[in-house]
Amino acid sequence: MIVDDFLVELFMDKYEMNVEINIAETCVDPFTLGEFLKLVEYENFFEDFKSKKLTYGHINGSPELRQGIANLYETMSAKNVLLNGGAIGANFLSFYSLIDPGDTVVSIFPAYQQLYSVAKSFGANVKLWKLKWEEKWQPNIDDLASLVDKKTKMIIINNPHNPTGCLINNKQLKQICEIAEDCDAYLHYDEAYKGLYLNDNDKITSAVDIYDKAISSGSFSKGLSLTGLRLGWLVASEEIIKRFAGYRQYTTISNGMIDDALGALAMKYVDQIYERNIGIIKTNFKILSEFIENEPLLDWIPPRAGSVGFLKLNLDIPTEDFCVQLIDQKSTFLVPSTCFEMEGFLRIGFGNNTEILKDGLGRLKEFLDTKR
Ligand SMILES: Cc1ncc(COP(=O)(O)O)c(C=O)c1O
Repeated sequence: MIVDDFLVELFMDKYEMNVEINIAETCVDPFTLGEFLKLVEYENFFEDFKSKKLTYGHINGSPELRQGIANLYETMSAKNVLLNGGAIGANFLSFYSLIDPGDTVVSIFPAYQQLYSVAKSFGANVKLWKLKWEEKWQPNIDDLASLVDKKTKMIIINNPHNPTGCLINNKQLKQICEIAEDCDAYLHYDEAYKGLYLNDNDKITSAVDIYDKAISSGSFSKGLSLTGLRLGWLVASEEIIKRFAGYRQYTTISNGMIDDALGALAMKYVDQIYERNIGIIKTNFKILSEFIENEPLLDWIPPRAGSVGFLKLNLDIPTEDFCVQLIDQKSTFLVPSTCFEMEGFLRIGFGNNTEILKDGLGRLKEFLDTKR
């Protein structure tokens, strides 16, 4: 089995820790432990945990945590939830459990590369459902319909979308579910950026609440700001979850007990966490929008949800060279779209601390000034 290089992870691993300013961060400003325990009104958490034995804990995730996650959905209960090591672990488990050599898989593109490279490494025939700048990154449902056939085992989408920030709306999601149902395919629905809406009227139903062969993967990293817990989840019908649990026994056994307990606490205070985080993305989005409006060398289709955007670079220079020079000259980190197997764009994050974003944009402007 050969797996392609995971380009975005390689690039981040090479540079991210060696820069002063990171404006490519996808997570909404992660909590310090102190800040989190204060928010959940449990500053004695570690004191109380001292008497607990560090066992494997609940194999599939504690009942409190599973129920807390199920509450984020309209029709799901604790039995429909399985904990994993991040959304990355959740995605992998779904593909590992369901994709066989020779299957046809259709994945949204551009995308977090895991969504199509893992299926390819398992010997699937992967077709890319391309979002286009000319279509404002909106999903073209006719294109999807023309890519699927009776051999399609799985359709893989991500909503809100990394890297463009586009949002598949309820009507489009329903159409996608109908296409999946027509060819009896699974719909893998990566919701790592779940709940991060920039418009108060946007509330997207999860695919698992409308289609019985849908699988949702979610994350504690992005909208919940608890990246260091390395927790993510899968939500699906009980039948599918049972299948996942069988495969998971070979990779995970259980997640960490302390992480699980902190995750369960987070679920009790999920409304407060979202309030904090939506406040951050809205403030930062406004700052970033103004910056781009006044910057002729950059353009974008404004994101509608999530914490990332895809900036079009109006300069004739390879984006990887651009980003490496920005690192060398301004110690500022952006991700080139070559990490998403495309040229001409830069991925920026707007979930980070507002002062960091302002500093990074100032440095980016100084760098762009040298290119005019
Ligand atoms: C679309 C998408 N899915 C999954 C992940 C993995 O997230 P986690 O930190 O929960 O493993 C990421 C991380 O960037 C992502 O962008």
